[in-house]
Amino acid sequence: MRPPLSARLEGFGTTIFTEMSALAARTGAINLGQGFPDTDGPAEVIEAAVAALRAGVNQYPPGPGIPELRRAIAVHQRRFHGIELDPDGEVLVTTGATEGIAAALLALCEPGDEVVTFEPYYDSYAACIAIAGATRRVVTLRPPDYALDPEALAGAFSARTRAILLNTPHNPTGKVFTRAELELIAEHCLGRDVLALCDEVYEHLTFDGREHIPLATLPGMAERTVTLSSAGKTFSLTGWKIGWATGPRELVAAVQAAKQFLTFVSGAPFQPAIARALELPDAYFERFRADLQAKRDRLCAGLRAAGLDVFEPAGTYFVTTDITPLGGTDGHAFCLSLPERAGVVAVPTVAFYDDEAAGRPLVRFAFCKRPEVIDEAAARLAGLRS
Ligand SMILES: Cc1ncc(COP(=O)(O)O)c(C=O)c1O
Repeated sequence: MRPPLSARLEGFGTTIFTEMSALAARTGAINLGQGFPDTDGPAEVIEAAVAALRAGVNQYPPGPGIPELRRAIAVHQRRFHGIELDPDGEVLVTTGATEGIAAALLALCEPGDEVVTFEPYYDSYAACIAIAGATRRVVTLRPPDYALDPEALAGAFSARTRAILLNTPHNPTGKVFTRAELELIAEHCLGRDVLALCDEVYEHLTFDGREHIPLATLPGMAERTVTLSSAGKTFSLTGWKIGWATGPRELVAAVQAAKQFLTFVSGAPFQPAIARALELPDAYFERFRADLQAKRDRLCAGLRAAGLDVFEPAGTYFVTTDITPLGGTDGHAFCLSLPERAGVVAVPTVAFYDDEAAGRPLVRFAFCKRPEVIDEAAARLAGLRS
């Protein structure tokens, strides 16, 4: 019999998150692997979803998303980023950013096209580029600051490059791309007639006053950028899977053409609730960011005390570390043994690299957890030194 998994998906059997979350469940270890908060999102947003369920908002919503949510997304993009969008045609509601990314790649790439992306990459990028029949060309970001190497970037483009797939703020490194780096990316896109897909799911999660700059706001880029984002991270509602794709009408229409055959529509009762969430006052976003920054500081201090080399993140839910000071160099083996050694689960970043040597000693921890959970994890990790 032929192997069940198609050649396109070879090597994409089980995601590292599934593997590590199963390990956490099996061992009862504290799960700092997968990036989901252990507290609920805003109560009024949850109540709005309950009200929608009870009011009978339970059938297929319109394909592009309910008008109220598309309007709220457009208002959000203007309010936080100064981006003007027509909610009718330039905004598409998706089933999380995950679907938006998949639909964009499927819609915009021909087999044989190349997509430039950065490693470590979010693992769905590699899989979806492969499903689309395209080839990834990867630019390596290296610690301690994961700065963009202009020569490596230039070397990743070719005559076959169709798109660049960027994530800022960046998972797993916590890097926030600087304006100079984005300008360089834009220069390549404009000079080579390449599209940009920009995953901004951590757009509100930046620290120490750092600014998140949407690629679409750079001169000339609005016309060729599809921005992908979602409510999951910003509102601690990762299980709702409400996301959006925004950009020029023709590109959004192409993404919708693929989306309609993937999920057709996205979760009806969550849509009016997320419209409410997007309208929350500035104070919500500021408090969320400050809380998360404090959690970052708490976990980073614990990881340093445990003897790890810590690369302090400027944004996101995550911090990456190098395990070398503890005597090992294999992050995957380290993560497999960590539940037994310390009762904690983390994710080996090598899973997000093509260049395995570059990622081998790196391990990612999530700090989107309650302070007492972070403290308990830090106390357990403190034993690693011995
Ligand atoms: C970079 C990045 N993009 C997309 C997603 C998925 O977003 P969603 O849950 O909205 O599909 C994640 C979730 O971890 C992520 O880290």
